[in-house]
Amino acid sequence: MQEHNQPPAACAAREPRAGQTPGRVPAGAEAEPAAALERMRARSAAHRAAAGAPPRAYVLTFGCQQNEADSERLAGMAEAMGYELCGRPDEADLIVVNTCAIREHAEKRALSTVGQYKHLKARRPGLIVAVCGCMPSQPHRLEELKRRYPYVDLAFGTASVGRFPQLLDERLARGRRLFVPPEEQPPMSEGCPVRRSSSYRAWVSVMYGCNNFCSYCIVPYVRGRERSRSREAILDEVRGLVQSGYRDITLLGQNVNSYGRDAGAGCGFPALLAELDRIPGDYLLRFMTSHPKDASRELVNVMASSAHVAHQFHLPLQSGSDEILRRMNRRYTAAQYLETVAYMRERMPDLTLSSDIIVGFPGETEADFEATLEMLRRVRFDLLYSFIYSPRKGTPAAGMQGQIPRAVQQERFDRLLALQKQIGQERNDALLGRPLRVLCDGVSKANPALYSGRTEGNKIAFFEGSPADVGQFVTFEADRADAFALYGHKTEPGT
Ligand code: SAH
Ligand code: SF4
Ligand code: F3S
Repeated sequence: MQEHNQPPAACAAREPRAGQTPGRVPAGAEAEPAAALERMRARSAAHRAAAGAPPRAYVLTFGCQQNEADSERLAGMAEAMGYELCGRPDEADLIVVNTCAIREHAEKRALSTVGQYKHLKARRPGLIVAVCGCMPSQPHRLEELKRRYPYVDLAFGTASVGRFPQLLDERLARGRRLFVPPEEQPPMSEGCPVRRSSSYRAWVSVMYGCNNFCSYCIVPYVRGRERSRSREAILDEVRGLVQSGYRDITLLGQNVNSYGRDAGAGCGFPALLAELDRIPGDYLLRFMTSHPKDASRELVNVMASSAHVAHQFHLPLQSGSDEILRRMNRRYTAAQYLETVAYMRERMPDLTLSSDIIVGFPGETEADFEATLEMLRRVRFDLLYSFIYSPRKGTPAAGMQGQIPRAVQQERFDRLLALQKQIGQERNDALLGRPLRVLCDGVSKANPALYSGRTEGNKIAFFEGSPADVGQFVTFEADRADAFALYGHKTEPGT
């Protein structure tokens, strides 16, 4: 497993399905956003009258699930403005690139994609190219987009996603490029139209931002301080999803354990999870991500005794060395991490555990790296997302002494992957012949002869399926496994 970032996916290229009502004016919106939306609708109507078809929008997403969720809102807002979503940039009148800044590689990919739109813009000057998300939330990247990418019409950060219709309206009304500087404390926006990319898996943000300031990480700078959504708003959204037949619902936040620590939420995360679990229906609840320093026993107890919470935990370790953890500002030790895992496994012996590791952090010695390998051997993760450390401008770690040469990082990274491959294989082999519940996603892209789905532990399963299984739970038994997936057969039809 090399990179966390999924391949870019066009929202509209996936199975079309309206989530909440497109076209609804955001609840509590004041006159100006509503007026901007009306003006945008009028422009789309004029386009339809002249061209015989509505204008088309293409939304491309880089980065984590938080960005996927933001893109579903951007696509929902585009529809509310009268755009039709499409799956190809060369068919679009509006291109929105939602970017990630977690590592240099993620930014390079986003910039090179934006670069490819130069010729589209040259062919069709009416095309609007918008760049948003974590990358332009950094002032130096916003400036770079303005200076070096003259065909970019509009750029804005994560704080301004909810104002997309106003910003697009302003760009079109004034006929000049618009670059929105990062807002101080982004307002919480509720009631935004959402175009969900799946009819059975859904993301639900429970909080935004991060207060942890791990020394390597750009997220607190590009996503601002923690803000929790109200308990009622989350309950309403999840109830609505379950009623519409959603089967797999993931609660999102950079550190969900901090949910409710700011004013206004009404409860903490374990209480929120317990309350959501009481919603009747046949569905799974997941959440990500949890910070090990506050993955509490109370949370584990709620999971263990719940009806719907998947026995799956993503608990990023980052390093097995206490000295590196200290320099990363993670605020736990390897021993504390092991204690948390031991309690989780005691309460949930069937737990699937995954983690993130950063290799080659400044000052990492061979002994520090060995300590990470030792943690892998002791914990035995099911899945690991491993990353080579990437210095991020403005973060403390970028200025630390002892930056590790690339060749050393790569050599350690390869050793880490080799060890995890062996452990992942053993963990998956232990599941052979056991009945597992799998939510079917449809025909596999990698092997069109098979269907694929996800187990409760979020492992990929391949089997012979039928169109009726898609979006349904099937009972599955694995006959064979590799380190990353299970291969087997259905033992019962879809439910
Ligand atoms: N909020 C989540 C992480 C979000 S970022 C958490 O705290 O767990 C996802 C992962 O990217 C992190 O867990 C970390 O392993 C990795 N990451 C973050 N910044 C990085 C950097 N500068 N270089 C390499 N990997 C990084
Ligand atoms: Fe980044 Fe740390 Fe916040 Fe996760 S908890 S988003 S790694 S600062
Ligand atoms: Fe990337 Fe932003 Fe997520 S930096 S990982 S898209 S919060």
